[in-house]
Amino acid sequence: MTPDTNNATCRAIVVTPGVASSERLATVAREMPKTGQVDLHVLEVGICGTDIEIASGSYGQPPLGHQDLVPGHESLAIIDCLGPGVQGLSVGQLVVPIVRRPCPELCAACASGRWDLCLTGNYQEHGIKGLDGFLREFAVVDANALVSIPNTLRPVAVLVEPLTIVEKAIEEAEMAYPRRWAQPHTALVTGAGPVGILAALLLRQRGLDVSVLDQRPADSPKAQLVQRAGIQYIDDQKTPLEKVVPAAGFDVVVEATGYSPLLFRAARSLGRNGVLVLTGVTSGHHDITVDSDVLNVSLVLENQTIVGSVNAARHHYLAAVADLADWSDRWPGLTEQLITARHPLDQFMDAYQKSPDAVKSVIVMAPRGAQ
Ligand code: BGC
Repeated sequence: MTPDTNNATCRAIVVTPGVASSERLATVAREMPKTGQVDLHVLEVGICGTDIEIASGSYGQPPLGHQDLVPGHESLAIIDCLGPGVQGLSVGQLVVPIVRRPCPELCAACASGRWDLCLTGNYQEHGIKGLDGFLREFAVVDANALVSIPNTLRPVAVLVEPLTIVEKAIEEAEMAYPRRWAQPHTALVTGAGPVGILAALLLRQRGLDVSVLDQRPADSPKAQLVQRAGIQYIDDQKTPLEKVVPAAGFDVVVEATGYSPLLFRAARSLGRNGVLVLTGVTSGHHDITVDSDVLNVSLVLENQTIVGSVNAARHHYLAAVADLADWSDRWPGLTEQLITARHPLDQFMDAYQKSPDAVKSVIVMAPRGAQ
């Protein structure tokens, strides 16, 4: 089957990387899926800090030979048509495309499916680096970059991609934690944005005693949301972190604000054998004074680890799908609440505005029933 050639264009958001506030609604040509590719009808796209950085002109790279990039990497789509040679997928199937594609050199990591650990740095990322993303009504992608989604997850599956980031980060923490002697019991997550809340839910699901630190009051929607899952909420404005660190420190800390000075406070809250995973970045420059001897002594004498984590491999996508399904049973209605706003494509700018109580804003590319 081929795309409807009478309708050879579609609406998209485009940005010019490096140029601030260049995001705009445009009409772009629809592509034909080549061998091994599929054409997707995009349903929803989530907006995250990376998209906001791209819109601010400080991040992002257009496809080779182009000035503009179609952003959007957190997506949910249905298969519109299959290109030649595609097997094991069917038209109408719900899917989430994998964001990162292997580097052209096919380094050892990329060749073994760990593009998230690419050794050359020449990987491409849909909607971020060198490949158009999914803020377009129709998008052609490689069939081998798709993850199937059960129809029951349709309302929340746009959260799969951000959850993959957390799946990998927590896997990194688990691998770094000296599990042969003890299991981690306590966890702190700094930041109640989407990544922070997803990380807190995942750690809670794994049975840890979890605290989330943010700067909103304890009766704010985000704070209430995490508390519903049995997670302790700390308002850093009212009760500074340093006052609530358990005597033995935290076993696992996930830093999810990207605010680099917080890294050092988070590191100081680690217990023996503790692992701090960094998941966020923000552009800019912060100069702070750190007692590096104290940090060094506790890292060494307490076997602590600080690890950075980015992107995700296919097995993290599969874990994210399974965990979202588990959460629907465990905390009915809770994951739906993470999607705090859905905006139509022609009002996409609203999704780029950050309000302090919003968690995940989503742009609806194809309203329900329109596919
Ligand atoms: C995306 C990742 C990506 C990272 C760096 C994040 O927002 O979720 O898939 O690897 O940005 O570009």
